[in-house]
Amino acid sequence: MAVAGTSSLLMRTVHAAGSDIIKVGLVGCGGRGMGAAKDAMNADAGCRLTALAEVFYDRMESGKEQLKKSLGTQYEVSDDKCFSGWEALDQILQTDIDVVLLATPPGFRPAQMEAAINAGKHVFCEKPVATDPVGVRRVLAASALAASKGLCVVSGLCWRYDLGVKATIEQIQSGAIGEIVSIQENYLTGTLWIRTPQPDWTPMHNQVLNWLYYRWLSGDHYVEQFIHSLDKALWLHNDVPPVRCYGTGGRQVRTQPEYGDIYDHFSVVYEWADGTRCHATTRQMAGCFNETEDFVFGTKGTARVLANEIKGETNWKFEGKKPSMYLLEHVALMKAIRDGKPINNGEYMCKSTLMAIMGREAAYSGQVIKWEDALSSELKLGPDRPNWGPAPEVEVPMPGQYKFIDS
Ligand SMILES: NC(=O)c1ccc[n+]([C@@H]2O[C@H](COP(=O)([O-])OP(=O)(O)OC[C@H]3O[C@@H](n4cnc5c(N)ncnc54)[C@H](O)[C@@H]3O)[C@@H](O)[C@H]2O)c1
Repeated sequence: MAVAGTSSLLMRTVHAAGSDIIKVGLVGCGGRGMGAAKDAMNADAGCRLTALAEVFYDRMESGKEQLKKSLGTQYEVSDDKCFSGWEALDQILQTDIDVVLLATPPGFRPAQMEAAINAGKHVFCEKPVATDPVGVRRVLAASALAASKGLCVVSGLCWRYDLGVKATIEQIQSGAIGEIVSIQENYLTGTLWIRTPQPDWTPMHNQVLNWLYYRWLSGDHYVEQFIHSLDKALWLHNDVPPVRCYGTGGRQVRTQPEYGDIYDHFSVVYEWADGTRCHATTRQMAGCFNETEDFVFGTKGTARVLANEIKGETNWKFEGKKPSMYLLEHVALMKAIRDGKPINNGEYMCKSTLMAIMGREAAYSGQVIKWEDALSSELKLGPDRPNWGPAPEVEVPMPGQYKFIDS
């Protein structure tokens, strides 16, 4: 899995002066889209939001109002650059934006990422990048194309940009806890939002709005949310992926139909070729013990990555300033564009998405899943060209019966 080398020679030169305007388009006027647009504007005084795309007209209209207020003079979106409906992505890419922020449900990301790179736009790409292996391969190919075109691909795997987490992982990688023996990833948390279905919503409207609960759209919470932790386990392994995994999971509390086809708990063990393991546990349930942390066990000590702390032969804690990691992603993106030195996060964002998908599939099927099989799998969830017709079938996977499609 590799993204080809970048060529800054091919980078657009229009921003070289440092005072030029960088035109930004937002796709998806939801919670994260609003935040990403604000972060992009705060990252660089020369940024302007100039176009919007959103599948629902009413959400686009309310997004416009919110953004007008929050972005002030950096909001320069004229009505002819606001697009709604399923073609909105293609339409926004035909405008003169330099950068596109992709903040829709992950199931749409592969097609959107591919189209954005084909159209020659720099991309900020929210996590995860796909919900199935076919989608991961599309994003990987689009990232390689971006590299050859000198375009930036910045991932919304925000912890990679957090100064405390970065410093802690650097300490570990430079030997502060000796050799890594194992990692424990905990993401034990409460429930997320659900949008109350309305009488005039069709099943497809409901699935798109309540995308968290449909695995073709979210990948299940294991992929959608837990990817933040799995990505740190991958990073701690210098982005070398595990060779195989197995695990368990189920749906014990959120069993009602409005929770679609996803599970509410998972526990997966990943094994690397060097013998190290990652024990990965996540739960989304109310009223339970909560803990989100990355515990790293080494031959000379232990680390808690989110606490930015190391104990053992070396005792260390990050005490530096921690500006918002969400802002820093966009600072890096805009600087790269201005400096003509493209950033491409494509490879790790694809690897951690696939690592999450293989863990989910191990729990669903009850089988051992190998990285190589996940990488070549023909598993594809969701329609090629979504529309307001019938919604995809909803069926909760049963371990021992559900079959992983390995090729
Ligand atoms: N990095 C982080 O910490 C973080 C935090 C929250 C969300 N996210 C990610 O951001 C993405 C969006 O999450 P959210 O919480 O903003 O969801 P959301 O539902 O609030 O927003 C998504 C928006 O996209 C719109 N949309 C859906 N399909 C579309 C399409 N095909 N074309 C155009 N618009 C479409 C929806 O109508 C909605 O307005 C997800 O991938 C999520 O995992 C990342």
